[in-house]
Amino acid sequence: MSDDKSLPAFYNGEFMTLSQVSISPMDRGFLFGDSVYEVVPAFHGQLLGAHEHLQRLMQSLAKIDLSLPYSFDDLMSVCQSLLSEQQTCELVYIQVTRGVEAIRKHRFPVTAEPTILLYSQPYDVPFALDYQGSHAYFQEDLRWQKCEIKTTSLMGNILAYQQLYQQGHENDEALLVRDELVVEAPSSNLFMVKDKVIYTPPLDNILAGVTRDLVVKLIHKSSFDLKEISPSKAMLLNADEVWLTNSIEELKPIIAIEGKSIGSGKPGPIWQQLFSAYQELKAKS
Ligand SMILES: Cc1ncc(COP(=O)(O)O)c(C=O)c1O
Repeated sequence: MSDDKSLPAFYNGEFMTLSQVSISPMDRGFLFGDSVYEVVPAFHGQLLGAHEHLQRLMQSLAKIDLSLPYSFDDLMSVCQSLLSEQQTCELVYIQVTRGVEAIRKHRFPVTAEPTILLYSQPYDVPFALDYQGSHAYFQEDLRWQKCEIKTTSLMGNILAYQQLYQQGHENDEALLVRDELVVEAPSSNLFMVKDKVIYTPPLDNILAGVTRDLVVKLIHKSSFDLKEISPSKAMLLNADEVWLTNSIEELKPIIAIEGKSIGSGKPGPIWQQLFSAYQELKAKS
């Protein structure tokens, strides 16, 4: 793995290494969290779901009324340029802020150009088909009301993971509860299975995960029924299988919630089937 200093980067129109990037202390991303981001995985130099990630970036930018001097195709070609075929797994991060203004004001700046940073870093896929599964705990969803925007203002998500850490559950997951329903996790979408029917919360004030979408498409190709509803805590505690999805951890099985085993207490057969199908999709990317 290369050290952070030599990671390839693209900053405000120029290619450089990450250590050469210098961002102003007056940048609104730093001052106000006035910024959005994406992370796109790549395998053996091939991006997975890049089109969907860039589309979501464009939607996040539109929702915060920020326009970029780069087209979709420009961004795609920068993402590709930052990859190395020698790396098995890489992540391309895209960070865009509303830029720098000398005066500190909440309202949008009048003349600032957006700050844009892309960089890639190698990573290890966290688990394989024999993955043992994680534990999860319910937590109140403290986030704001526009969770469909992939903003870098992640305080609610950070506090959720910090609470787990303080309770001695550093490697476990939080299941975020809003109005008595479980909507997603702080960095992933939620799926559960009961009596061979798969459930996932609808895209209603949650992040529209690219992995969620890929898994939904795999489910539609399979013989399983999918219902887009947010489960209650009781439904999840009585589920046969539960897993979370995101671009980095893929399909992450949850084998216990609040200390109660889910199903057999092991990653279940439907997770196994979809996880294998997802691996095939990656191999074809
Ligand atoms: C709150 C939240 N939900 C879901 C996801 C999963 O999104 P994706 O599958 O596009 O990585 C993420 C990823 O960062 C997230 O932060």
